[in-house]
Amino acid sequence: MAVAELNSAFTKTHFHSSQLSFLSRSVPKHQHCDFPTLHRTQQHARISCSVTQNQVQAPAVQIQEPKSKSDCYGVFCLTYDLKAEEETKSWKKLINIAVSGAAGMISNHLLFKLASGEVFGPDQPIALKLLGSERSLQALEGVAMELEDSLFPLLREVSIGIDPYEVFQDAEWALLIGAKPRGPGMERADLLDINGQIFAEQGRALNAVASRNVKVIVVGNPCNTNALICMKNAPNIPAKNFHALTRLDENRAKCQLALKAGVFYDKVSNVTIWGNHSTTQVPDFLNAKIDGMPVIDVIKDRKWLEEEFTEKVQKRGGVLIQKWGRSSAASTAVSIVDAIRALITPTPKGDWFSTGVYTDGNPYGIAEGIVFSMPCRSNGDGDYVLVKDVIFDDYLRNRIAKASTEAELLAEKRCVAHLTGEGIAVCDLPGDTMLPGEM
Ligand code: LMR
Repeated sequence: MAVAELNSAFTKTHFHSSQLSFLSRSVPKHQHCDFPTLHRTQQHARISCSVTQNQVQAPAVQIQEPKSKSDCYGVFCLTYDLKAEEETKSWKKLINIAVSGAAGMISNHLLFKLASGEVFGPDQPIALKLLGSERSLQALEGVAMELEDSLFPLLREVSIGIDPYEVFQDAEWALLIGAKPRGPGMERADLLDINGQIFAEQGRALNAVASRNVKVIVVGNPCNTNALICMKNAPNIPAKNFHALTRLDENRAKCQLALKAGVFYDKVSNVTIWGNHSTTQVPDFLNAKIDGMPVIDVIKDRKWLEEEFTEKVQKRGGVLIQKWGRSSAASTAVSIVDAIRALITPTPKGDWFSTGVYTDGNPYGIAEGIVFSMPCRSNGDGDYVLVKDVIFDDYLRNRIAKASTEAELLAEKRCVAHLTGEGIAVCDLPGDTMLPGEM
């Protein structure tokens, strides 16, 4: 997926100015407040207020010292009691969602979807924990300000920071978008190493401070191997909780099949993306359906399916970069939403979705120990099972296993062995290994 920003420095920074400016705006005139000098290392502004006797008081929101919310932002530093207000009484318990690369383009689309309730539902209050880099700090404040100004009822907390050990505290979802993009002349092995370091650190941070059942969706490229590195550095979190985002590829495949068949894309189901989120991925038309019928019975042009369709999906990201001048952001955000929803709502009967998950115990004969996109179903509890009844023919088996995508992921894994605790890295990446955006 497209890349937001590199989270390289893990120094502690805290944000006070907006808290102060917010609070100074909102404190009624008849109150007297002292704003002590802030020190950079202080956790929170200490604000003491006194109200003169007999004065009308009880502001709508009790002004108080913020609880120990690390780096809470502006209006989100206020405390509240969800059970105290009639309209929020029936709401579910607040969930913590961490997002890395939070000042980037993908996040800019995603965060507002999360905050609006369209992802987790209209009765699910959320806390957004935004991870940025030192370089993106200002932008991150801008994001937090826009979230403030949007007045989303379900958005109860926003905190920003650059230390994953703080930002990932109690996270129940971690959407890891931030990664360094491959620059001109940069070897893929270098990219794997640079981004691998980030995801190793974030894996350790999740392991230390996140919820034990945190669901992790890795978006930053190369997302399959980044997810593997993250997972290997978080041994106390179940391996199956780690995902690499291939839902965008699934959506792209559905669109192309619909276009060819002349139907709207809601008629296309059972599309699997096998393997790596790279140009070696295998979009599976053999098991896919249009209006409940096998795609190969509807689109009888096998050559088109094997060649044009497959390549279009594999390289869609690159074509988009040529048009836009940057990689996909809005459609990536939409596909992250789809990926989350696929895990928190029961999969429609007979259908499935694609996600990159750990291959240990897979029923397809795919090499173990890698993160590979496969067909999954969920009963809506955040978990998934691999779909067993899929058809393979020689073409599909060959494309998945022997030809490239599995070999590519195994090579990437060898290349990051120093980051997964599996010994010394040996980088023998196939020459043509490319992200969808690299053409
Ligand atoms: C995409 O699929 O759109 C992105 O992953 C492309 C890229 O390489 O950034």
